[in-house]
Amino acid sequence: MRASIINLERYPLENLSSARGREWLDEVRDNLEQDGSCLFPEFIDPEALEQMASQARSIAHLAHPGPIEASPYFFNYRLGEGEDLPASHPLRRKGKRNLAQVAADLIPEEFLLSRLYRSELMLDFLGAVTGLPVYLNQDPYQSLNISVMGTGGCQQWHFDSGNLVTTLLLQAPESGGVFEYVPAIRSEENENFEAVESVLDGLHDGVLQNRLQAGTLSLFRGHYSLHRVTPVAGKRQRIQAILGYSTRPDLYGSIESSILHYGPRVAEIEAHAPRYPA
Ligand SMILES: [Fe+2]
Repeated sequence: MRASIINLERYPLENLSSARGREWLDEVRDNLEQDGSCLFPEFIDPEALEQMASQARSIAHLAHPGPIEASPYFFNYRLGEGEDLPASHPLRRKGKRNLAQVAADLIPEEFLLSRLYRSELMLDFLGAVTGLPVYLNQDPYQSLNISVMGTGGCQQWHFDSGNLVTTLLLQAPESGGVFEYVPAIRSEENENFEAVESVLDGLHDGVLQNRLQAGTLSLFRGHYSLHRVTPVAGKRQRIQAILGYSTRPDLYGSIESSILHYGPRVAEIEAHAPRYPA
């Protein structure tokens, strides 16, 4: 990889075991522990960012809109099934979702974004942060995505399936499109539905905001932290890459989820020349 995709003057990804590298990694882990997120402004070299954003814009029309509303538990379709819950319960709530995503198989391998995603520097960096070997998500559609939001684009309050979500903002909107979150609102032991409900009702006082600049990489504990993107205003699209990494070497998403997010063409491909393992 062209060394200059990442701003290596600011971030010691090449020297993680040096004194400076180790100190920096400690800070990253502390941030993740305390805030559930860690931001890396100017993570991408300015020239590379320009090229990366323009490549992303060139395929933005391939983005599929997906569902227009979704529950906070988006990826956990069966949670609460068959239970007698009031309409106000988070498991019964749906929020407005207005975004489109370019699936991984439509992002050319030679794009700078693809090269960044697959680079040893990123795998080593995330491995050092988590203390575990880190692999690329193997899903043919979900591994690397470009999320595109036009005017009014937004994402409902939700939890992610993975717990170390890596995103890179390629193009910031003129205004709006703010990332809001409540760190560690739930845990493995406690879904904390009451607190989730108060966030959905706009009554929770622990909502934090990240106003991201283009070129900012963000690590986020999205499985335990409820989060959303507020509506985008203005003509410029909000374009964000989602880099799927996992501590499992063989992580695939579900075909149902891929069809839902990337459209009927996925069902078509899987019917004739399946890319998912049998
Ligand atoms: Fe998310």
